[in-house]
Amino acid sequence: MGQHVNSRDQLAEHLKFLTELGIDGISRDRVWRASGREARTIPSATDVDLPSIRADLGDCTRCKLHTLGRRQIVFGVGNPHAGLMFVGEAPGRDEDAQGIPFVGRAGQLLTKMIEAIGLTRDEVYIANVIKCRPPGNRNPEPDEVAACEPFLFRQVETIHPKVIVALGAFAAQTLLKTQESISRLRGRIYTYSSAQVIPTFHPAYLLRSPDRKRDAWEDLKKAKSLLDG
Ligand code: URA
Repeated sequence: MGQHVNSRDQLAEHLKFLTELGIDGISRDRVWRASGREARTIPSATDVDLPSIRADLGDCTRCKLHTLGRRQIVFGVGNPHAGLMFVGEAPGRDEDAQGIPFVGRAGQLLTKMIEAIGLTRDEVYIANVIKCRPPGNRNPEPDEVAACEPFLFRQVETIHPKVIVALGAFAAQTLLKTQESISRLRGRIYTYSSAQVIPTFHPAYLLRSPDRKRDAWEDLKKAKSLLDG
């Protein structure tokens, strides 16, 4: 009985979240509905290149962030053969403590967004431009981006995703080599290497501005359809 109440509560919470994302119905399109199931076929992860990138990063001292209170390097997580990759800005306090990207409040929203398109965190790959926590969650500085971005670029070349969702201005500007704001960048499809890039709002921004979740949902649906296309 308790379990029924629980799953009903969970369903209600999920529906509320979908409503917040601006989803007001479920597609009857068989291709869309089947696509989540198909995407669950994960190739076996025998990749050796990501570990060698991680080894090259080592106990990194290339920029000043190693002296500014980082607890550990947050490299990335997920399926090394993912067709869909998410790129964020830099670890926050929770990520610095756990060594895993997007596990704090913004990360929980990102997890729900991934699940809303029928995928799980294990099926995608998640990384940041910057691998060490900037103190007090300040913005990364240009020298820090310059020191760290080669490792993101190598991750992208190795994973070879079909689609990259760039979460927020830093990720989009780093991948697309532009200074345009995220509001101007989003809504269009770009390319980085052989991947199609969808810039969208950072989940931390969505927590502050929930009325933009509808736009983010459009971006994620676009990413999913490019992934399946
Ligand atoms: N924000 C980011 O950009 N990355 C994280 O890993 C967590 C919060």
